[in-house]
Amino acid sequence: MDQAETLRQKMLMINEPQAKAIAVVSGKGGVGKSNFSINFASELAAKGNKVLLMDMDIGMGNVHILLGASSDKNILHYLEGEGAIEDVIVKIEENLSYISGGSGLNKIVEWKDLEIQRLMDGFSILQKSYDYLIFDMGAGASENGLELIMSADEVIVITTGEPTSIMDAYSMMKFIHMRDPEKAFALLCNRVMNPEEGKIALHRLSSAMNKFLNKDVRLLGSLPEDPYVRRSVINQTPFTKLYPNSPASKTLKNIVHAYAEQQNEEIHNVKKRFTERLSGFFRKK
Ligand SMILES: Nc1ncnc2c1ncn2[C@@H]1O[C@H](COP(=O)(O)OP(=O)(O)OP(=O)(O)O)[C@@H](O)[C@H]1O
Ligand SMILES: [Mg+2]
Repeated sequence: MDQAETLRQKMLMINEPQAKAIAVVSGKGGVGKSNFSINFASELAAKGNKVLLMDMDIGMGNVHILLGASSDKNILHYLEGEGAIEDVIVKIEENLSYISGGSGLNKIVEWKDLEIQRLMDGFSILQKSYDYLIFDMGAGASENGLELIMSADEVIVITTGEPTSIMDAYSMMKFIHMRDPEKAFALLCNRVMNPEEGKIALHRLSSAMNKFLNKDVRLLGSLPEDPYVRRSVINQTPFTKLYPNSPASKTLKNIVHAYAEQQNEEIHNVKKRFTERLSGFFRKK
């Protein structure tokens, strides 16, 4: 291979499409992360994006229940077995797949080199096969899964309009920001009684981030309190699918539409990738 050809191969590798990794987090628990994650993922998939949703709520993962999907396999089966990563992926609908991380990624920092290598190999494959990898995380900032949050391209923070939830969302963002001041944040206020409530909460959070941490935060908007969300949980189907005309669905569709539009405009940043950052954590050990 001559030099020009080597360079061409390298350029091809750089330009290879790579999934955007998004971690969905909150300070306070029970604010709607999992419901947001599945509906956000499902709507991105409906727009033709290939989306992989990963349940990272250690020990309490409920995404498969919300999706009505049976998941007898989690990522541990891949890490400890001999099969391919694709074997532990469940197809939910066109363009949307699911993988249970659950307790499988619990002790990530205690892993041996072989398991880490297998995880990185698996994620490298996923990054090439999907447009979005969405991690539904547990609440709060614990050491569990922190590497994933810190490796994500974007962190979506969910809050409600309650002062306690706003405060905890701020603490969570500060915690992440202190570890990586470059991390991109997006904010969503869930369960608002009226649009004003959402605007006030988002404004309070973004101005605090700006004032105290000198950080700009992208505002996704607010989702209304909507009884159809609970009904869709009972029916184990995303609300955007089951009740597409409910207030929460209509709003979420608009949010995803705006999100996807902005995504198309952004020239995809190829500086450093999710898998590269994640393997950096292991190299530091
Ligand atoms: N917009 C909404 N309107 C009404 N109810 C909602 C809305 N969003 C979420 N809920 C309800 O809030 C509850 C918690 O939602 P969810 O499980 O998505 O939260 P979570 O942040 O993932 O919780 P955890 O921290 O335990 O993982 C669910 O019972 C759901 O029905
Ligand atoms: Mg959850």
